[in-house]
Amino acid sequence: MHQKNTSIIFLVFLSFLLANGQLNYYYYYSSCPNLQMIVKYGVWAAMKNDTRVAASLLRLHFHDCFVNGCDGSVLLDDTETFKGEKTAGPNINSVRGFEVIDNIKADVERACPSTVSCVDILTLAAREAVVLSGGPNWGVALGRRDGLTANLKAANTNLPSPFDPLEKMISKFTDVGLNLRDVVALSGAHTIGLAQCFTFKHRLFDYKGTGKPDPNLDSSLASSLKTACPNVAKSNTNLNSLDMVSTYMFDNAYYKNLVNNAGLLESDQALMSDPQSASIVKGYSMYPYLFFNDFATSMIKLGNIGVITGLNGEVRKKCGQINH
Ligand code: HEM
Ligand SMILES: *[C@@H]1O[C@H](CO)[C@@H](O)[C@H](O)[C@H]1NC(C)=O
Repeated sequence: MHQKNTSIIFLVFLSFLLANGQLNYYYYYSSCPNLQMIVKYGVWAAMKNDTRVAASLLRLHFHDCFVNGCDGSVLLDDTETFKGEKTAGPNINSVRGFEVIDNIKADVERACPSTVSCVDILTLAAREAVVLSGGPNWGVALGRRDGLTANLKAANTNLPSPFDPLEKMISKFTDVGLNLRDVVALSGAHTIGLAQCFTFKHRLFDYKGTGKPDPNLDSSLASSLKTACPNVAKSNTNLNSLDMVSTYMFDNAYYKNLVNNAGLLESDQALMSDPQSASIVKGYSMYPYLFFNDFATSMIKLGNIGVITGLNGEVRKKCGQINH
């Protein structure tokens, strides 16, 4: 009798959590108990085939959350009557990892049909990508619902560009409720993954009409990048490590690089040009656990931006399209 009462109270409590419109750790506790294992396996299997996909999933989550909040909008495909975000400047021929999310979603649908949102899957996948790359772990509160629309214009204007001056980059973060510490910590995501030559080539040959490389770029790195990205248009899509010390390892080498003038993007190296952000960079370069701790804290904030909860939005059947 006592046992039964306890279970009823527990179930009432669970359904309250489901309906009250807040993210929580038990959202799929009874409706999809194996969710986290399924996502972890899916990210692991994809990384076994292509290590870079961890970086791609982390970036995909960031590009989702900065546009319309974390709502899975970045995952939506264009149709004849609907324009998604995939063709936005920062996304086109650049963001990747969609098939990984689609495959995990298919596995999750087999285990728990019409239960888990695509945006929760993407948020969990980004966390697993970091953990499986050697980075910090953190708990992901769940219950985000998939949005019914996307915003191409906001994708073009709200996402930071590698050509943005530091103040502009910072304002794009404060616009979504993140602070300078979040900017510096989250930029540490560039400890994994690759960038195309066109995103930093202007630093190599004739920086601001000087006929010389960017003075804030280490000269031996500049010469090796000139070889990787020759001064011809067809090199624009060649790929380079964002962190050449440990390309696929989630560690604090990115910050050590910045201290050594060896950041790849001008927007990365710019974190050293302001005394406040530079002192945070130096702290992370010396204390890896400080970086890990702050990165986890900032990722939780990132994953909470503009979420849709309760009965709003929907649980998509397929991540590339809204339900009919
Ligand atoms: C601070 C402003 C940021 C700027 C200007 C920026 C810019 C870029 C650029 C230009 C690339 C290369 C894209 C390409 O060549 O196709 C890139 C890659 C990447 N970005 Fe950022 N980013 C920023 C912040 C972030 C944040 C906050 C995250 C995640 C938390 C992130 C995660 C990544 C990852 C992991 C990659 C590598 C992706 C891959 O290899 O597929 N970035 N970023
Ligand atoms: C393996 O990775 C390659 C390179 O990204 C990709 O084109 C291919 O679809 C992946 N294969 C599987 C089975 O995921």
